[in-house]
Amino acid sequence: MVSTHHVDPANAEQARAWDGTEGAYWAAHAERFEPALTDYEDAFFAAAAIAPTDRVLDIGCGTGVSTRAVARRASAGAVLGVDLSSAMLEVAAAAVEREGLGNVAFVQADAQVHPFDAGAFDVAISRTGAMFFGDPPAAFANIARALRPGGRLALLVWQPFERNEWMVEIMGALTAGRGLAPPPPDAPGPFSMGDPDRVRSILTSSGFADVEVSGLEERIYFGTDPDDAHRFVSGLLAWRLEELDDAARACALDALHRTMRAHHTPVGVALGSAAWLVTAHT
Ligand SMILES: C[S@@+](CC[C@H](N)C(=O)[O-])C[C@H]1O[C@@H](n2cnc3c(N)ncnc32)[C@H](O)[C@@H]1O
Repeated sequence: MVSTHHVDPANAEQARAWDGTEGAYWAAHAERFEPALTDYEDAFFAAAAIAPTDRVLDIGCGTGVSTRAVARRASAGAVLGVDLSSAMLEVAAAAVEREGLGNVAFVQADAQVHPFDAGAFDVAISRTGAMFFGDPPAAFANIARALRPGGRLALLVWQPFERNEWMVEIMGALTAGRGLAPPPPDAPGPFSMGDPDRVRSILTSSGFADVEVSGLEERIYFGTDPDDAHRFVSGLLAWRLEELDDAARACALDALHRTMRAHHTPVGVALGSAAWLVTAHT
């Protein structure tokens, strides 16, 4: 794996998190994060429409679940996964090795500024990895340059916080009724591409045409049973719990367990979510 470590100052905070404790948690729990979005896969890969000879860029590829899926489709092509997190990329590289996929490479880099060869890719995809840029127009202009003329973009991004039951309920439980301040909608983070008008404006100004944004609503999965899901989610959001005193932490953990119990279904603990499927071309 190539590592450039050149991170734009606008992404320094994200790099600290993803190449630090947050990325380490994702890397250690790849077997949870990867299938959590299974219900989105058919629509996402249909939109990406990977052909066997395509050269594909996977932005914010993380532990590489989408990288491997497109590598199987681009069997006579090639896939480059780019991510900030060395720990997640190590997991990604090991999985590619295990599956014997010979057409995949990874680079640890900031996709906003990485000097991709111009026109080197037919398709750029991202499964919830393109919402963290400090300067989205610069990032998408860089991605547009990496695509050939007529190249395609397919992104899965979250709809606004309020439309995502999983986030509203989990954060509500953790803040135990102390009032929930949703993150500012355009700050780098999971919900920064929640406004379709903003998405269209960013992509159009970055050199993309025919931007289409379509809504999807699916369940996402947190564990096999409430205890399992509780362990996973409380570990994921441990940083929120550290802010609390002992009594408030115990209360938040109880509330989180109640939430997990309330969403226990025959196929595991599943909460509602809403994403945009964004497509465009250069
Ligand atoms: C929510 S995770 C999604 C990971 C993966 N695509 C998946 O579906 O499991 C977001 C990923 O985006 C990566 N990321 C965030 N900002 C990035 C940037 N500027 N350049 C490259 N990767 C970035 C993070 O390191 C993280 O792995």
